[in-house]
Amino acid sequence: MVDQERKVTVKAPVNIAVIKYWGKKDEKLITPINNSISATLSIDDLCATTTITISSNYQEDEFWLNGEKQTISDNKRLSHCLVQFRSLKSNINNHLKIESHNNFPTAAGLASSAAGYACLVSALGHLFGITDGKQLSILARQGSGSACRSIYGGFVEWIAGDDSETSFAEQIVDDNHWPSLRVIILIANDKEKDVASTSGMKRSVETSELIHHRAEKVVPERCIQMRKAIKEKNFTKFAELTMRDSNQFHAIAQDTYPPIRYMNDVSWSIVSLVHGYNEFIGSTKVAYTFDAGPNGVLFMEQDQVGQFMTMVKQFFPFTNQTDGLFRGEPIPQEEIINQSLVDYLSKKLIIKENSLKGIIYTKVGCGPKIVNQQSN
Ligand code: DP6
Repeated sequence: MVDQERKVTVKAPVNIAVIKYWGKKDEKLITPINNSISATLSIDDLCATTTITISSNYQEDEFWLNGEKQTISDNKRLSHCLVQFRSLKSNINNHLKIESHNNFPTAAGLASSAAGYACLVSALGHLFGITDGKQLSILARQGSGSACRSIYGGFVEWIAGDDSETSFAEQIVDDNHWPSLRVIILIANDKEKDVASTSGMKRSVETSELIHHRAEKVVPERCIQMRKAIKEKNFTKFAELTMRDSNQFHAIAQDTYPPIRYMNDVSWSIVSLVHGYNEFIGSTKVAYTFDAGPNGVLFMEQDQVGQFMTMVKQFFPFTNQTDGLFRGEPIPQEEIINQSLVDYLSKKLIIKENSLKGIIYTKVGCGPKIVNQQSN
């Protein structure tokens, strides 16, 4: 018998929620208690890359993550994902070698599972002829909830649904819709150990009263407003909703019993910088959001980047630039510093030297991309 081998390599993006997913209706199926909305970030700067080879030569499935072999049976979500694919496609008899990499260090504290599962299901889908976005998003969701949104580029909404078949992501607008929008991730130095999202949200659903009010009353209205703000490219409205939703998510973390604290004092300084900056300018020009960790993800239009980042440099100076984690285009800086802005912010903030360990300057990008394929 002639050995048969097919191989595909896919890159998939990270996404950042502007209306957060926090809380499951069904733990096993990973269906959420509320809709969520996210921006997909450019794969040029942050991405997962997965190569899957299917061959009649392999004796068993193998999974390699960042160059290290993993035990598939230890990873329930990955095993479940493979079982799902095999149940949909009875022609997957041969074994698979799955090799995954993230182009950003785990130390960056950025959610890698969303990009990872979106990449895995896109690659498997390509090999086995499942290309429907809805179906791929249902499969990715079962690896990690937020992964279902990384199946599309641009801005994406995850419809909570009632069961597995009705819980999937849909694109609101594609990555060309809002070209002036920029995303800057301020990576905060952090020594504390986070509570993982999966266990954190479970504890919130079990103990927080606020989370149920949020899911039933707040998010449905907020999603309508957020979709409108995105479609109209209304930055002021988009920014306010994004910040309020991040704040509510962290209020729920605190309302969880025992409470969970994801933001640290550097995160709070970023919040003060953003609000101080917006107050000085007299309108909302910059927005922040924080996930289950201390890093700030900022949104602004391109014309604000130079002035705002000059302030970041003033108030969060780096002395250890060489160890820093930098990605993306060089960040513009203003040649002449706006001294009255510095003076205004100085009343609200103290300088936090070396409190950041990196800056990623990126934008909204496309969904998963096939970068290579071979068969013999
Ligand atoms: C705070 O998708 O990582 O980033 O479904 O248990 O894998 P699991 O959780 P995960 O949670 C992400 C939570 C969040 C908000 C969001 O991305 O919407």
